Amino acid sequence: MSEIEEIKEKIDIIEFIGELIPLKKSGRNYVANCPFHSEKTPSFVVSPERQIWHCFGACNEGGDIFKFLMKWENLEFFDALKELAKKAGVKLSRLNIEDKNWKAKSKLYEINHLTSEYYHYLLTSHKSGQKGLNYFKNRRISDKIIKTFMLGYAPMGWRNLFSYLKKKGYQNDDLEKSGVVIKTRDGNYYDRFRGRIMFTLFDHRDNIIGFSGRTLEANPKEAKYINSPETLIYHKGKNLFGLNATREEVRKKNQIIICEGEFDVLSAFQNGIGNIAAVKGTALTFDQLRLIKRYCDEIILAFDMDIAGNLAAKRAIEMAEDFSLNIKVARITSGKDIDEAIKKDLSATIKDLKKTSSIYDFIINSSLFRYPLEDPFSKKRIASEIIPFLAKIQNYILKNHFVKKLAEVLDVSEESINFEIEKNTKKISFPVFGNKETNLNTQKRDEVLEEYLLALIVQSKNPKERLAFTLDNLAVDDIMNLSIRKILSELLNFKNEISKFDKTLPAEVLETYNKAYLSNIALIAVDDKKFNAEFQKVIWELKKIILKRKLNEISTKIKSAEDDKILLELNSDIKKILDQIQKIEKKKT
Ligand code: CTP
Ligand code: MN
Repeated sequence: MSEIEEIKEKIDIIEFIGELIPLKKSGRNYVANCPFHSEKTPSFVVSPERQIWHCFGACNEGGDIFKFLMKWENLEFFDALKELAKKAGVKLSRLNIEDKNWKAKSKLYEINHLTSEYYHYLLTSHKSGQKGLNYFKNRRISDKIIKTFMLGYAPMGWRNLFSYLKKKGYQNDDLEKSGVVIKTRDGNYYDRFRGRIMFTLFDHRDNIIGFSGRTLEANPKEAKYINSPETLIYHKGKNLFGLNATREEVRKKNQIIICEGEFDVLSAFQNGIGNIAAVKGTALTFDQLRLIKRYCDEIILAFDMDIAGNLAAKRAIEMAEDFSLNIKVARITSGKDIDEAIKKDLSATIKDLKKTSSIYDFIINSSLFRYPLEDPFSKKRIASEIIPFLAKIQNYILKNHFVKKLAEVLDVSEESINFEIEKNTKKISFPVFGNKETNLNTQKRDEVLEEYLLALIVQSKNPKERLAFTLDNLAVDDIMNLSIRKILSELLNFKNEISKFDKTLPAEVLETYNKAYLSNIALIAVDDKKFNAEFQKVIWELKKIILKRKLNEISTKIKSAEDDKILLELNSDIKKILDQIQKIEKKKT
């Protein structure tokens, strides 16, 4: 037995999670409100039989006890392993301690650490960094800030850092993987950052994960900012610049100001606005929101962006509702960004940051600004832009307040707005995961049905028999979801006891399998008759969708068919399919 399995044997997932959050028994599983996002009805399910969990709500994630602890404490796998090994009293062998990924990662951390110190040294103590130091001085960045944020300077020249790190004994391959060095097609290496002031990118646990560098030129030929590429340890959009230095202040104020760039963070921090971090030019992501939620409950967005028109930003705001994060917007009036505004008028900027409006007011105003209220059609446009946001608001008083407001500005009835909201949240009526917070409304009908079918098969008394029946009606290749397709074809060839089936599945489809295994169909499963009826219905529905898909394919072919004979064949194919669909319709009634 591997050490990982040994740990899983010794720590019961129900006891372990049950100590952290209250679990309630429900059928053969346990349920709870998901600890990773906020919700009112429990969509977090734990299975004592299989020792796994899954959240059917906003997270839509799951796994074993390791994955749980990783998310709960925001740990890397290796750290979770160490912690659980200690708890279980399992001694880890060297093999595990030197986990391959972990080894590779710690090498990258080392390289980044040396790189950061190298650039910082050149900036603060070497004549080649003088240009960079002047630049920071011109932008009124203090020595203290330079030290706190480990700012640096990457000198001109192609191989300064490369030679330095080579002397420290690192291999070309590792240097390339760290992203600070680039490999050319003919196998040469050169420094990614040249002649730039450097920002060290820390994660919230003070690991150095990457860098960004700004040119000193006013009209640069290359990009103004260059960032580390995605590496084993740097993932753009999972991190916030500055948070490592500002997190305590964020926690104390229970609020974070989100700005766009590095200099905004530095200027604000230097001027006493310490609860701030930057997204570095991208829209807020799910991971960043989750990170923020660990420290506070309120976000002040302080950068110019077209939120209502921006899809990514839209998603972020909708997700924030799932996390119970309160988003407000501040309008910075004395400059184009916080850095500029602070320089022009610090006290006005502080006032601006305090004078916030609700994100929903902001969305309404920004829509009105873009589509002046001229005719009914611009009203419709404004409404369809704003309603998805309002539909997401979980607090009814808040929701009603903004429904009223939108009704007033559009000069229509509240009822019509409420009606549109309802249309927007309409869900497919399958009891798939029996929970109103699942994302059914955004999922396509065939995806939902395929997941439901898998759930019915794997939770039935005889999965292999169910599968055989399914395959009498449709082919595995008709299934669109590749994970489900893989699971079904594995099941088809599986000869052993069904309780061992998950052990044979490849890691990338395991989550889909677990989700199907844990989904809430208990009500149907206890009653054979109900189960059969439901199963039959799902297969017919799915078959109908598959046939319609085929119809579509054929009609596209017909459009481009030139040969009369082919045309005739295609037409008869269509007839056959239509016949089949009709047969299904008849059976159903
Ligand atoms: N950015 C980036 N890559 C670019 C341009 C911008 O990563 N090619 C990120 C940087 O983090 C930058 C932010 O997006 O700080 C906002 O860009 P921009 O508004 O152009 O610059 P400022 O933040 O105002 O930068 P500065 O004050 O240094 O001019
Ligand atoms: Mn700026």
